[in-house]
Amino acid sequence: MSVPQQMRQVRILAYGGPENLVIDKVPTPSPKPSEVLVRVLAAPITAGDVRIRSGNVPRGMQFLSRLALGWSRPRNPPGWSFAGEIAAIGSGATGFALGQKVFGIAGIKGGAHADYEAIRSDGPIFPLPDGMSISEGAAFFFGGLTAMDFLINKARLATGERLLVNGATGAVGSAALQIAGHLGAKATAVCSEANHALARQLGAEATHDYRNGSPKGQYDVVMDVIGTLGWAGAKPLLAPGGRLLMITAGLWPMLGALLRPKRAGLRLIAGTSTEAKDQMARLVALYHEGAYKPVVSQTLAFDDLAKAHAIAESFHKPGDLVVEM
Ligand SMILES: NC(=O)c1ccc[n+]([C@@H]2O[C@H](COP(=O)([O-])OP(=O)(O)OC[C@H]3O[C@@H](n4cnc5c(N)ncnc54)[C@H](OP(=O)(O)O)[C@@H]3O)[C@@H](O)[C@H]2O)c1
Repeated sequence: MSVPQQMRQVRILAYGGPENLVIDKVPTPSPKPSEVLVRVLAAPITAGDVRIRSGNVPRGMQFLSRLALGWSRPRNPPGWSFAGEIAAIGSGATGFALGQKVFGIAGIKGGAHADYEAIRSDGPIFPLPDGMSISEGAAFFFGGLTAMDFLINKARLATGERLLVNGATGAVGSAALQIAGHLGAKATAVCSEANHALARQLGAEATHDYRNGSPKGQYDVVMDVIGTLGWAGAKPLLAPGGRLLMITAGLWPMLGALLRPKRAGLRLIAGTSTEAKDQMARLVALYHEGAYKPVVSQTLAFDDLAKAHAIAESFHKPGDLVVEM
């Protein structure tokens, strides 16, 4: 497989709107001995990408986020995950063949919004399962890892438990509804009415439109994906012994959850999701069990990156949005 000397790679000029995205021509990386070079065929545009590009992070998180990502603009090139094919193999890299379809995560170092990505062959990269499309592979890990980590590892959601998902049909919510159904939990989905059919298709037993006021009822687990409930909004919804999963939370609510996780017999759980390779493998196993498949609602061309960012920035996209290189 011939690899061009130059490739397209996205750069963010400054924190702000999608107009700050540029596609540069840069030298294609050569894989180090331990690495493989992936020709990226598709990558998702996630809520995370939008937050990194815009600098619009939950309240109080801006200082920490800029310290971690870069002061006036993100220092790393964007793109957290990818699907593609092996284009070159380092002299000591093992486990992959030229042309093999793969998917994985570039993580915080980014760079997946490009034509090529070099990654350690023993790193967070897997063969693409038979029957999974490139777009699905690209979208697979973002919502899936978050939903699996919070529902299974952190909340230990059990068969028969009642779950409320606030923000139920985006990347994280659509994975959460499927995984909850697989675990035998009874999920109620909060999203706009236009997405109620999708939520039911993904396993929700009941639906609620957030524009009709607060959800009602009692739940063992409340997963506040979009962060509009918070502790005050979730507390009346939690049954005795209930757990609140704060997927989106500002600095103070997050610190509060870390410092005082038990309140009134309830548990608050906040933080970031895992990127560990064994957890990625576990999510792949869930796919093979039929427990989770990403919902790719829209695929755009790489050149339409700014448009893709604008759509993702609405926080109303159903499932996942992917760009194809
Ligand atoms: N803690 C972590 O590690 C972690 C990991 C991943 C993501 N996140 C965060 O999770 C959030 C969601 O990510 P995502 O990728 O799932 O977003 P997304 O794909 O944009 O989906 C957003 C969802 O929220 C719903 N929604 C919008 N406004 C709402 C409101 N006022 N009340 C209730 N639901 C509302 C949307 O439904 P409609 O379209 O029907 O309005 C949609 O289902 C983001 O803030 C992201 O930063 C955190």
